[in-house]
Amino acid sequence: KMPKNVTIIEVGPRDGLQNLKTFVPTEAKVEFIKELKKAGITEMELTSFVSPKWVPQMSDAAVIIDSCHDFKARDFVLVPNQKGMDRLKSTSCKNAAVFVGVSNTFNKKNINKSTEESMTELEPLIRELKEQGYFVRACISTSFYCPYEGKVAMEDVVSLCNRFVDFGVDELSVADTVGEANPKESYDLFTLLKEELEDVMITAHFHNTRGMALANIFAALQAGIDRFDTSAGGLGGCPFAPGASGNVATEDVVYMLEHMGIGTGVNLKLVVKALENLLPHLDKQYESQYYKLVQGS
Ligand code: HMG
Ligand code: MG
Repeated sequence: KMPKNVTIIEVGPRDGLQNLKTFVPTEAKVEFIKELKKAGITEMELTSFVSPKWVPQMSDAAVIIDSCHDFKARDFVLVPNQKGMDRLKSTSCKNAAVFVGVSNTFNKKNINKSTEESMTELEPLIRELKEQGYFVRACISTSFYCPYEGKVAMEDVVSLCNRFVDFGVDELSVADTVGEANPKESYDLFTLLKEELEDVMITAHFHNTRGMALANIFAALQAGIDRFDTSAGGLGGCPFAPGASGNVATEDVVYMLEHMGIGTGVNLKLVVKALENLLPHLDKQYESQYYKLVQGS
């Protein structure tokens, strides 16, 4: 079942940076994104159109899109509501990422609505985006565990995913928001999703809080998943998911896959260069084995 090639969806500029306390200068973000594109990244979450009061780090979203978006790439922008959609429509970017938590408590903390209220709000927005030719990805948070409610049932994840498919989304990014899943849970959920949602593009999104993300990716590969959200430098975490740490590092995933003979199209040296240039602007170090190895630290 193992794929020959895997698509890496870089989420560093969005998930990676959103949680950093110190504002990263817009020019440094732009440079980071451009260098990641040079490294061979063809799909990337550039930024998000959310409330600047809730997530100040993303307040420069419009400038980021104007400076970085090119039509050859699949550049995503996160949008939570009508206002986010309106802001997206004022740009040239045609790829939207909506996001909802399977668990109600997380969803309330993250976007101030219950899961059901979010679905009601998103349905007409997604249908409209689809009519207008947008690519829509749905990010499904707390697909394994919720930081407030604990274990999440697989049936609830499948049913939420099915509703998004019915709304017309092109892709589901199924997330372990707090990095609590283990490889057996990863294999079981992705096997079930592949069975239930034939012909739907499914992506796995792992945070590495407990050091299990690479093992979870290996398990997901065996379940037939060939798309992974990763973040350069292992930065990341949702500000409204206490206990979550960074996403699995792009370099570590690319290193593992390439050494298994699975192609990614990503040039590791150029990812490291992008990270070196970004580092002086950050208030933290990278959480990536590969980066530490090549820096000799
Ligand atoms: P709210 O306070 O309920 O919103 O927040 P509201 O509709 O009452 O509006 C309040 C104010 O926000 C108003 O401004 C609106 O105009 C403004 P004011 O009148 O006070 O000046 N506003 C907006 N401004 C800009 N863009 C918008 C927007 N919407 C309203 N789109 C809201 C609701 C959704 C806005 C808020 O909760 C929010 O921004 N949340 C941010 C959530 C977030 O970014 N989380 C991180 C991303 S998700 C994630 O990381 C998980 C993921 O990685 C997968 C995984 O790992 O699980 C994807
Ligand atoms: Mg995330």
